[in-house]
Amino acid sequence: MELLQAGHLAAIFELQDAVLSTLDDPDFYVRRNEELDVLMRYLACPDHGQIIGVLNAKKLVAYGVISYPRAAAVPQLLQSFPGNKKNPTRCAVMEGAMVLPEHRCRGLQKILLKLRKTLATSIGRTDIFAECAPANWISRHNLFAAGFSISAFVENSDGRKRHLMTNFQSNDLAPAESEVQGVLVNECDFETQRRLVAENYSGMAASRRPAHEILYRQALSGHERRRDCHER
Ligand SMILES: CC(C)(COP(=O)(O)OP(=O)(O)OC[C@H]1O[C@@H](n2cnc3c(N)ncnc32)[C@H](O)[C@@H]1OP(=O)(O)O)[C@@H](O)C(=O)NCCC(=O)NCCS
Repeated sequence: MELLQAGHLAAIFELQDAVLSTLDDPDFYVRRNEELDVLMRYLACPDHGQIIGVLNAKKLVAYGVISYPRAAAVPQLLQSFPGNKKNPTRCAVMEGAMVLPEHRCRGLQKILLKLRKTLATSIGRTDIFAECAPANWISRHNLFAAGFSISAFVENSDGRKRHLMTNFQSNDLAPAESEVQGVLVNECDFETQRRLVAENYSGMAASRRPAHEILYRQALSGHERRRDCHER
C-alpha cells in the first residue's frame, strides 16, 4: 500500500478502464467529465485529497480516494442534515474505490476504507461522508462494516440517485444482534427510505444477496437509550 503520486495517474486510468469495462452495473461508478483534473489535484495537493494504492509486482491493482472539501463546498453535503452543526473543516469524503476483478474478495476495499479513515482523522477530519449507488451491495456492505450508516439521499445533477452514508449518525444505533428491531426496505425504494430517515431511522445493514433489502433502525432518544442500557 502506498500514497499515490502524480506519476501514477496513467496507472489509475488503466485500472479504471479495466474495472469500468466489467462493471455489473454502469451506475456503480460513473466517470466525471473532470475526472482527470480531480484525480490530478488529489495526487498533487494532499490538502485537497489523497489516493491510496495497492501495488502487486509494481502493478496498481486497487486504489481508494479520500477528499478534503473546502469549507465552502461542505454545506452542500450537510444540507441533507437539517439542524446539523458539523464544522466544515472537520469533514472528509470517502470517494471512489476500485479493485481489479482478479484481486477481489481479499478484503482490499475494507482495508482501503480503514486507511482512508485513519488519514482523514489524523488531520482532524473526523466526520466522513460517502455516496453509494443503491444497487452496489458490496460497497454498501463494506461501508456498513466500516461503521457507516445511511443517513440521507442525494440526486446528482444527471439524475443519479445515491445513498449518502456517514460515520457520525450511528452512535445510538448499535444494538446487540439479538435486539435488532427495524424495518426492511428495498434498496431502491427511496420514497420509503426518505420517510424512515425523516422519522429518525438510519440504514444499518443489508441482507445477503440475492435479497435487496436494507435494515433501517430508529435512533433511540436519550431517555430510551438509558432505559435500553439499563434493561440489558
Ligand atoms: C466494490 C469493490 C471495490 C470491493 O472490493 P473488494 O476488495 O473485493 O472488497 P472486500 O474484499 O473488502 O469485500 C468484499 C465483500 O463483499 C462480499 N461479496 C463479494 N462478492 C459477493 C457476491 N457476489 N455475493 C455476496 N457477497 C459478495 C465478500 O464476501 C466480502 O464481504 P465479507 O468480508 O463480509 O465476506 C470491488 O468489487 C470493485 O472494484 N467494484 C467495482 C467498482 C465499484 O463498484 N467501486 C465502488 C464504488 S466507487
